[in-house]
Amino acid sequence: MHVKTLILGAGAAGMMAAAHAGPATLVVDHAKAPGEKIRISGGGRCNFTNLHTAPDRFISRNPHFAKSALSRYTPWDFTALVDAHGIAHHEKTLGQLFCDGSAKQIVQMLRDEMARAGAQLWLDTTVGGVIHDGTFSVTLTHAGRETVVTADNLILAAGGKSIPKMGATDLAYRIATQFALPVVTPRPGLVPFTFTDDRFTPLAGTALPTRVTADGPAFDEATLFTHRGLSGPAILQASSYWSEGQEIALDLSPATSLGDALIAAKQSEGRKSLTTILSRHLPARLVQYLSPDWPTVTLAGLSDAALRDLADRLHHWRLTPSGTEGYRTAEVTLGGIDTAALNSRTMEAKAVPGLYAIGEAVDVTGWLGGYNFQWAWSSGWAAGTAIAAEN
Ligand code: FDA
Repeated sequence: MHVKTLILGAGAAGMMAAAHAGPATLVVDHAKAPGEKIRISGGGRCNFTNLHTAPDRFISRNPHFAKSALSRYTPWDFTALVDAHGIAHHEKTLGQLFCDGSAKQIVQMLRDEMARAGAQLWLDTTVGGVIHDGTFSVTLTHAGRETVVTADNLILAAGGKSIPKMGATDLAYRIATQFALPVVTPRPGLVPFTFTDDRFTPLAGTALPTRVTADGPAFDEATLFTHRGLSGPAILQASSYWSEGQEIALDLSPATSLGDALIAAKQSEGRKSLTTILSRHLPARLVQYLSPDWPTVTLAGLSDAALRDLADRLHHWRLTPSGTEGYRTAEVTLGGIDTAALNSRTMEAKAVPGLYAIGEAVDVTGWLGGYNFQWAWSSGWAAGTAIAAEN
């Protein structure tokens, strides 16, 4: 069997590319259904894009690489497609667009777009070896039969290593390596932190607004204490900038100066205790947890400098996580096929005409909040339209 374009992976990026690559396109996936990560994303409502999409919301060895695709296929383009399919949506927070109904609507939309474009979809298909001798020959096992499919173009859309239970594998990296494309070492991103001791067990379930920084920007979102460590959107965001052994810094009260609040309370309610006043600004369980380290005297018994010092510690709480939950729960994989090997307009490998890489398999990783899907749509569209324009 010969096709013009063979796409490995029927996830977000692969389906988007298939909808645009033109005739004689075959998409294959080892899963039983396409777009499984779309289906479970955003708590079942799919945070499908972010209105604040900009290159600085993405992590990559080359921060300029994503600019071209993101500017040519934008959140507005994808939202127009969603609208054209009659899928109701809303902005939840921070520019994040979610379906009002179900993420399954986005999967169905992409299936419809692929069908409209005439693309074939083979599920439950095992990908074997790849040979390149002008065309690409890929051994596939589909419906119990081994077939060699030849293709003029091969698109690597098999995603990253996050959540192996959902079928994630290193297929895209392996094939890239076979073709001598460099791969930036993959690591889990958007992932909870763990601590080897059970220090946060008494706080499990407590959440509060925070500002969290690892070795990158500060994220003003919620932190959640868990039995094993720290989670919540601010923590997940910071985790993508963290490397083993590094400290993270938490501001436990980003909106209110605790120093000012304590000094004001000392003047008007000096006989009250630190814990009483701080419980007005922080969850009572967290105050109880931290209070054994604090002086037990009333506010009036403490100098302003001592109050400021204590408040400073709450605004700059430094912790060194032991590690992360790893690929088991990571929402994305950082690193991947090095963008230096790819054309940023088309996603084609510079040294291997006809070989493309898109989506999470590439070393472009978005923040939490719809950015990763936008990269999948934009890069999938860039590769698909480049192939369709070949004739
Ligand atoms: P994706 O992983 O979607 O697709 C790869 C496909 O390749 C899969 O269908 C897989 O089965 C297939 N495949 C892999 N190995 C194979 C092999 N060896 N043989 C055959 N097929 C193979 N992002 C966002 O923007 N908003 C959100 O709300 C969320 N929510 C979210 C929740 C959870 C729980 C996770 C894990 C992730 C998210 N994400 C997200 C991230 C988002 O899902 C992710 O970035 C995109 O799905 C990436 O799209 P790709 O098409 O590149 O890979």
